[in-house]
Amino acid sequence: MSILPGSTIGILGGGQLGRMLTLTAKRLGYQVHIFSPDFDTPAGEVADLAITGPYNDTEALSRFAQAVDVVTIEFENIPVTALKTLEAQVPVYPQPHVLEMAQHRGREKAFLSQLGIPLAAFRVVASEAELSDALTEIGCPCVLKTAGFGYDGKGQSKITTPDQALPAFNALQQAPCTLEQFITLDREISVIAARGANGAFSAYRPVENQHQNHILDVTLAPASISAELEAQAIAITRQIMEALDMRGLLCVEFFITQDGQLLVNELAPRTHNSGHYSIEATACSQFEQQLRAVCGLPLGNPELIKPAAMANLLGDLWSNDEPHWAAGLAQADVSLHLYGKKEARPGRKMGHITALGSSPEAAATKVLAARSALSVILKNQQI
Ligand SMILES: Nc1ncnc2c1ncn2[C@@H]1O[C@H](COP(=O)(O)OP(=O)(O)O)[C@@H](O)[C@H]1O
Ligand SMILES: [Mg+2]
Repeated sequence: MSILPGSTIGILGGGQLGRMLTLTAKRLGYQVHIFSPDFDTPAGEVADLAITGPYNDTEALSRFAQAVDVVTIEFENIPVTALKTLEAQVPVYPQPHVLEMAQHRGREKAFLSQLGIPLAAFRVVASEAELSDALTEIGCPCVLKTAGFGYDGKGQSKITTPDQALPAFNALQQAPCTLEQFITLDREISVIAARGANGAFSAYRPVENQHQNHILDVTLAPASISAELEAQAIAITRQIMEALDMRGLLCVEFFITQDGQLLVNELAPRTHNSGHYSIEATACSQFEQQLRAVCGLPLGNPELIKPAAMANLLGDLWSNDEPHWAAGLAQADVSLHLYGKKEARPGRKMGHITALGSSPEAAATKVLAARSALSVILKNQQI
């Protein structure tokens, strides 16, 4: 059964992904209710209704469920008990078992390796003894990552010599972790794909992601990789979605090693920062595609209309003063997205800009020039 425009979509989480999902849902004629533990969220600001409550408030969850026709997410770390409470009353996509797997790096990697999908060598670490064994098996350099709640490189540390491992584990409060081989990267790419009703599948082309301090900095669409790697990355994404029998959107982050091998880094069962370019550069953005998938509508066309590049705007850009908006917007073909966050902190994603171009590199040149213009404050020359 399709959930048609005019119906109400419930979104768990109130961040910028929820905001862009909400804005798209409004364009399509839906009502949107947000459920989030935080007040004054980027998504809540644009939704029809924002409910604030902890994810373990069963009563508030039930009231939320009663008022919506389908529930989806913008954030994968929603307690599974909350998802199950909701699922008893209303369809939830992606399904709870998908989030349960993706919430824990150890479970995610075990699931992927069971499917025979290539990964960096890893071990699950829950004690000092396991850390020591894992270190012997994996060797240095390696990366220690908390199993849960990691994002933008938080909760991870690179270990170059064995004596750094225990202090790193202690700094993570000896929380359950994975220790993985450090990969010398040629580049990083991601694939976003949707799976709708009756197993319908649709993928965006792989894009290239460049990070700064473990945070996505720039995405180039499409990635400049061989047709063979492109097909392989999409086939792996499809295999994962089918094995999960999931409905919704999945982003698969890949490493490409220096000898050209594709390794899966991690999964995000939702829209992804590396897909923001799709708002301007495709007929059906990742946000619309997630809505179509969860509502059981035909999937949209993911084809790239023109090469594009996206650059994140982090709170650092606000460190001297308000960014120089007029100078940034004076650059041709650049679209600005701001998330309505009240406080700019270093490393916090405040917005992004996207440019189209004749090639991904040409688009990147434009978007980077626009971002530089934002941070150049020419006090007496404000446009
Ligand atoms: N094993 C690794 N080898 C090399 N680089 C890595 C490795 N793990 C993480 N990184 C770098 O750190 C970034 C963030 O790590 P990731 O595991 O994706 O965590 P997060 O959940 O913070 O996105 C990656 O995109 C990559 O640039
Ligand atoms: Mg990542």
